[in-house]
Amino acid sequence: NRDEKINVAIDGPSGAGKSTIAKEVARLLSADYIDTGAMYRAIGYKLLKNGVQADDGEALEEILEATDIDFDQGDTLLDGEVVNHQIRTPEAARMASLYSALPAVRTKLVALQRKMAQTKSVVMDGRDIGTNVLPDASFKFFMTASAEERAERRFQELKDKGQPVSLEQVLADIRQRDHNDSTRALNPLRKAEDAVEIDTTGRTIQQVIEEIMEIIKQES
Ligand code: DC
Repeated sequence: NRDEKINVAIDGPSGAGKSTIAKEVARLLSADYIDTGAMYRAIGYKLLKNGVQADDGEALEEILEATDIDFDQGDTLLDGEVVNHQIRTPEAARMASLYSALPAVRTKLVALQRKMAQTKSVVMDGRDIGTNVLPDASFKFFMTASAEERAERRFQELKDKGQPVSLEQVLADIRQRDHNDSTRALNPLRKAEDAVEIDTTGRTIQQVIEEIMEIIKQES
């Protein structure tokens, strides 16, 4: 029944193609796309800008209290300001990975994410959506790809944006973030038991979107 609210959770490591695919699946389902990685990046960007150290609990609480993150037609809003570009730098990615291990940060963002999914259909991508944020999601997917292929994709992306990086550096960053994201104590990157695993290595975006839509259509 397509009139019902549906929630789709898409998890996986960075560079597996989640955001491109989740965006298109959201469009096809007339649902809102929620990029939770962008939320962690926005927080990371703000904490970095304000010089807040990860171990300064009081400053952290204060800043989190006064932080609002929202999406508006594809734009990421940090306290009402569009920060799409600022959060897409390698540095913001590193900050996001670092600060996303902090309980205060996760508590704040998970609450925001659950609220976003409460009243409307969403396609939400991240690391802990199927396991933690939306354990009762209508559909769960876990996307993977080899570290080399993910690095190659990120490298092309950054190159297209004119950002000077080497493939070796991107691969090293990806390995480091994979490690951080999957070994942190709190809600690490992990496939939910009831998630469908999709390996995107060597496959096109279009093929993966079709596979996901096929599964959703069959079971709706
Ligand atoms: O998907 P991304 O690369 O934009 O995510 C940036 C960082 O945020 C990533 O290193 C892990 C973290 N993250 C998280 O801990 N939980 C999520 N649900 C989404 C992202």
